[in-house]
Amino acid sequence: MPKLLVAPSILTADFAHLGEQIQEAESAGVDWIHLDVMDGHFVPNLTFGPLVVEAIRKVTKLPLDVHLMIMEPERYLEDFARAGADHLTIHAEATPHAYRAVQQIQELGKKAGLAINPATPLEALLPLLPELDLALLMSVNPGFGGQKYISSSTERIHRLARLREHLNPSCLIEVDGGIKPENVVEVYRAGADVVVAGSALFNSQPLSKNMEKLLGEVYAVGPR
Ligand code: DX5
Ligand code: ZN
Repeated sequence: MPKLLVAPSILTADFAHLGEQIQEAESAGVDWIHLDVMDGHFVPNLTFGPLVVEAIRKVTKLPLDVHLMIMEPERYLEDFARAGADHLTIHAEATPHAYRAVQQIQELGKKAGLAINPATPLEALLPLLPELDLALLMSVNPGFGGQKYISSSTERIHRLARLREHLNPSCLIEVDGGIKPENVVEVYRAGADVVVAGSALFNSQPLSKNMEKLLGEVYAVGPR
C-alpha cells in the first residue's frame, strides 16, 4: 500500500460543530489535523489562535499540525506548544530568524516545519533543510481555502524531493492548497509525503466518502 498521509484543514469545516467534525475526520482515517493560523498581516485573513488549538487538543489524539501564517511566529511558539500543537510550521517569509525559530520549536519538543509561498524560490528552504522535520510547499497563495492548485507546484515538489534525498531523507514533504482527487496522484508521484486538503474533505458530502475518493486515486496507482 502506498503511504500518503492526509491532513485535513479545518478551514472549510463547520466551526459551530468543530469537535464533531474533527471526530468524523478521525473516524474516516485521516492522519493529522491541519490547523491554519492567520494573523491578517502575513496573509489577508484572520482565523484563530492558541485557544482554539487547546480546545481541539481535547477532542482528538491525532497529531495537531499547526501552520502558522503569521509574522514573527517566534513570539507565539511557546503559546502554541503549550496549547497542544505537535508540529509547528512557520513561513520562511515571515521572519528574518527562521533558523532560530526552528531551533526554538525543537527545543520545545515539537516537530519543526518550514513553509514557503508559491513565489518563493525553493532555495529559501535549503539552508534549513538538514534541520527540518517538515518542509511545506504552498500550492496556492496562502490565506484562503477553496483555491485552485497552482500547476507549477508539481515541478517544485519534484525538485524538493530530489534535494531532500541528499540533504535530509527523513524530512517529510507536505503540500498545501487546492488538493483534489483530480490532482492528488500527480502530487503524490512528484514526491509529497503529506497532503493538506480542506475543501476536498470538509464539504457537503460525508468526510469518509471524500477520503475514499482522495485516497482511492492514490491506491489505484500503487507505490511510487
Ligand atoms: C491556505 C491554507 C490551506 C488551505 C487548504 O492558506 O494554508 O491549508 O486552506 O484548503 P484547500 O484544500 O481548500 O485549498
Ligand atoms: Zn495550511
